[in-house]
Amino acid sequence: MNGDIQKELGIIGESLEIKEIVHVIQQVAPTDITVLITGESGVGKEVIARGIHKVSRRKQKPMISVNAGAIPEGIIESELFGHEKGAFTGAWETRKGYFELADGGTIFLDEIGELPLATQVKFLRVLESGEYMRVGSAQPRKVDVRVIAATNKDLESEVRHGNFRADLFFRLRSINIRIPPLRERKDDIQPLIDEFTKELSARNGITFGGISEEAQQAFKAYHWPGNIRELKNIIESLLVIGNGRRIEVGDVRKYIRDFSEIGRNLPVPTKKTPEQAERELIYRALLEMKSDIMELKQMIQKPVYHDRDMMVKMPLIEVNAEEQNAVHADASLLDESVVPIKEMEKRMIVEALRKYHGNRKLAAKALNISERTLYRRAKEYGIEKWF
Ligand SMILES: Nc1ncnc2c1ncn2[C@@H]1O[C@H](COP(=O)(O)OP(=O)(O)OP(=O)(O)O)[C@@H](O)[C@H]1O
Ligand SMILES: [Mg+2]
Repeated sequence: MNGDIQKELGIIGESLEIKEIVHVIQQVAPTDITVLITGESGVGKEVIARGIHKVSRRKQKPMISVNAGAIPEGIIESELFGHEKGAFTGAWETRKGYFELADGGTIFLDEIGELPLATQVKFLRVLESGEYMRVGSAQPRKVDVRVIAATNKDLESEVRHGNFRADLFFRLRSINIRIPPLRERKDDIQPLIDEFTKELSARNGITFGGISEEAQQAFKAYHWPGNIRELKNIIESLLVIGNGRRIEVGDVRKYIRDFSEIGRNLPVPTKKTPEQAERELIYRALLEMKSDIMELKQMIQKPVYHDRDMMVKMPLIEVNAEEQNAVHADASLLDESVVPIKEMEKRMIVEALRKYHGNRKLAAKALNISERTLYRRAKEYGIEKWF
């Protein structure tokens, strides 16, 4: 029964944590109560929001997704609440805001922690009374929307630092769905692998050749800093690059950084007997040796990979990144001593996102641009799969 509903919701997972979340969704979906979804980047906050909307009485109406972190601060209010003609320079026409567009449906406000303080007051007003004003108008307007907000920030600490209003925080947190990171719900990894290999091979027109037991174990042992988005991206790359060939542990190793540190990233086993712990260590050592051998085999059998476009598409850093970089540097000197600046920029953005496992904040910091700029550029370059 629960499984059927989960399917309807589009939420994959067998862990107790996911089952509990599905249970909460069933309880809150029929109501209009505001829901706050929290969790690290890539854990599935938007998936859960869509799930709530899908089984709510508003399902026939749209769910409008707005990313507060992606809209430049100067225009955020007019984007959310709309504006009157002549409200500011460039406001040639009256424009509806996202709240108005979502009337009767649901609005999903992602990265709520990025909302400027002045806008937070207006947002709180909509939550409390369903009223808002278009920019350039003093006329209150009514709207009937269900609000779902999400953040990967610690809002409590944002409140302490004066970046987030306490009244809004208290209002939002009454129903808080916390999605644990993937490394804390390892039971979900297998069903996610099964789903993504099926879905992504079909989407890419590939006949899937299966995945070895060791490769699956490696997936389970990894700590997934980029969560489900990282898992999905890696599976897609493995499928596309391998063109359906059976996925072996050596292939996985190319995509999972710090593979040799897997042991250290595992939670410390508390209830294991010394024999169990020893067996696990030996197993891990064997796994690593096996993947080393696989990699050596592949290096002998296959020429080094030269297609730069594919490199851009590959979402994660390989373990032997230095060697790869050297090859690429040489290749680019041979036939590509000059590339368009836009292309360079795109590559750097993908590189930074890969390096930081899709963590936009860290990627933006490394690139020395704001997160808002990062969003805009990523959209421009069509690499939104990171968002
Ligand atoms: N339980 C799940 N079942 C199936 N797919 C999932 C699940 N959770 C996440 N995904 C997939 O993982 C990717 C990331 O999910 P989503 O965009 O919802 O994450 P997020 O928490 O909103 O991330 P961010 O904080 O970076 O915005 C999406 O492609 C989504 O379809
Ligand atoms: Mg999101």
